[in-house]
This record gives sequence, structure tokens and C-alpha cells, in this order.
Amino acid sequence: MFEVLPKIPADPILGLSAAYKADPNPNKIDLGVGVYKDENGNTPILDSVIKAQSVLLESEISKTYITPQGVPGFITGMLTLLLGKESKALLSNRVAAVQSPGGCGALRILAELIKRCNSDTTVWVSDPTWANHIPLIGDAGLNIETYPYFDKSTASIKFDEMVDCLKQVKKGDVVLLHGCCHNPTGADLTNEQWDEVLRIAQQTGFIPFIDTAYQGFGDGLEEDAYGLRLMAENLPEVIIAASCSKNFGLYRERVGLAAMITSDAAMRDIVQSQIQSVARGIYSMPPSYGGALVDIILNNEALKAQWTNEVNEMRTRMQTLRQLLVDKLAENGASKDFSFVTQQKGMFSFLCISPEQVKKVRDEHSVYFVDSSRVNIAGISRGNVDALAKALVSVL
Ligand code: LMR
Repeated sequence: MFEVLPKIPADPILGLSAAYKADPNPNKIDLGVGVYKDENGNTPILDSVIKAQSVLLESEISKTYITPQGVPGFITGMLTLLLGKESKALLSNRVAAVQSPGGCGALRILAELIKRCNSDTTVWVSDPTWANHIPLIGDAGLNIETYPYFDKSTASIKFDEMVDCLKQVKKGDVVLLHGCCHNPTGADLTNEQWDEVLRIAQQTGFIPFIDTAYQGFGDGLEEDAYGLRLMAENLPEVIIAASCSKNFGLYRERVGLAAMITSDAAMRDIVQSQIQSVARGIYSMPPSYGGALVDIILNNEALKAQWTNEVNEMRTRMQTLRQLLVDKLAENGASKDFSFVTQQKGMFSFLCISPEQVKKVRDEHSVYFVDSSRVNIAGISRGNVDALAKALVSVL
């Protein structure tokens, strides 16, 4: 039966890890997959997570199934983190939610839920968007269209074109927006631009679908929630996918949240039953471990404060690395002005060089990043930044 299947080329992001591992050059540099790294290139377990693991080890007394919704304290903790303590939607019981296997799991089950509502729905994604958005949403059978977002020639958001496009979106169609730290470009909407997107959603009746995977890596945990909270406070329906991979460093535990703001509490009960049935039909119920750790952290004042500090440290380090890269590029005589990198937010930046230049820097200098020119800022260190800047300048 399998003869009909063609081999699929390596994933544009995950495939880079294999290529990097296979490269014997001792000075190779990995700016590919979006994982946080310290100065030594390691991805350590956060101290708050280590403490939560020992609490869990002492307190967990069974490995029986958890509820289909997930770990209860995880759901409430995450919803408060995302929507804020004063959220009208939360206080009026209008939010349905399930714990999901990673942010990817959330995106997929939400796409399946959208299909149950209307299989003709078009989901509008930014051009460009995270490469895996397309299969995660498209494989559920939904139409995908793009709206203009980023202009590589000016390294900035094409907001006017984005607005013109969103004004044409049909009522009931879905617009996927990155809550913060846009992946792959690092170019985020300003608060005023979010306000404008809200006005368009109110006029056209499109449903925002906010994917938030980097809360805390842009300007801060509260600041990064501006767009999401704005939509949640002012619209009857909002779809939300969140990931704990990056800001809790729980990549391999696969923990995320799928949430839906509904028009009223009665509708919330219906949507809650539907999303649980979607999940039951795919993987039944989420794995417990990562959600249990996040529950322990978010619901313990001291641990939450420690985790917040750790998120702040990761963010500050990435901001410093942005400046360091830009300075080193200038020092090495770059013919292009890269100062836009310091304006971008989170883990990624588009360097706005061509795929040929990306290939050349990979082939000639063993510097690995995505063909689109997306670099993982956290992969830069004081130890590799000189070599990185020289390599980049040599292909400009
Ligand atoms: C990334 O964008 O590099 C990460 O989110 C990892 C992935 O799954 O693509």
C-alpha cells in the first residue's frame, strides 16, 4: 500500500537540526530551530521548573488518566496569564479551554473545531508566517489565504496593505494573528496597530485567532498580552492557541492551551463539549506532566515570581544579543544597515538577505538558519558573534 507515497523533503525548520548535527566543522553555528540557549549553547531546565518537578515528584500519587480538559490548575493559571485577572470574558464564564499537546496540538484541534463550525471557512495567515501553520491548519481541510505582513525590502510591516486586505475578509472567516514576537520576522504590531485591527474585526466580523507562543519574550509578560487581551475584551468570539514550550522551556513535554472566547456562558458549555470531543477523536486526552508543572509554578506565588524573573532574564539576554549582532555587523563593515534587528522582538529576526546568501553562509561558514533568513537570536553568543558577523558580511 505504501508504494503510492512519495518521500517528503526535510522540514524547513526541523531539518536544519539534522544538517547542523551532521556538519563536522567545530566552529559551526546553529541559529535554526527556535529554542532558547544560554551563553554555552545549552538549553537548560529553568530553576522554577526544577523546583516544580520536585514538588510533583513528592505529591503525585497516581498515574491514572487526567480529565479530558487537562490539569484544572493549569487551565485557570494559563487563562489568567493570557487574559489577565480582570478579564471580563473569564469573569463572565465565557471561555472554553483544554490543555493540548503543545501549541501545535492547540492549533490543530482549533482548526478541527473551526471546520466543525463551517468547513468553508478561510483562515487568513500573515505573509510570511511560521512554516508549520500551513500544514497544521491546512491539513484539517480549511482553506488558507495570506494577508500582506512583512516587506523584506524595508524590513518593516506593510501595515497599510495588511489593513486593506483585512477589510476585505468575509464575516465568519478567521484571521490568524501572532500574539507577540512574530515568527518568523520578529516584527510585531504596535498597540495602535492592534487597535486598528480590532476596529476592522468589529466592522467586518472576522474572528481573530491569536497564536501566542512567546509571551514574555517581547516586552514583558503583561505587555506582550496587549493584542490578545484587546480582542478578548472587545469581541464576542476569539480563538486562542498558546504554547508553554518557550517561556517555560518545556519544549519536549508538549504542553499548550486551546481556548475559545464565546458569546455567552451557555455557548461556552457547548464549545467546551465540542473541543473535548475533537481532542477525544484525535488523542483522547493531553499528557499530564508539563501541565502539572505549569500548574505548580503559576499557582505558587514564590515559584511564579522566580519563573517571571527567569522569563525576564531570557528576554533581556536576547535583547542584548540583538544589539551585539548589529554592532558587530557594523564593526565588520557590513554594507547593509541591520539596525532593524534591534527593533524586532522575541526569539527571531529576519535578516532580510536572499535564500542564495543564506545558502552561501551555510555552505561556506557552517552557519545554519532558515532559508527565509530567519535567525534564532538565542543561538548567538559572545563566543560566536564575531565569527557570525564576519560570515554574514562576507556574503552580503
Ligand atoms: C520554531 O519555529 O523554530 C519552533 O517553533 C520549532 C518548530 O516546531 O518549528
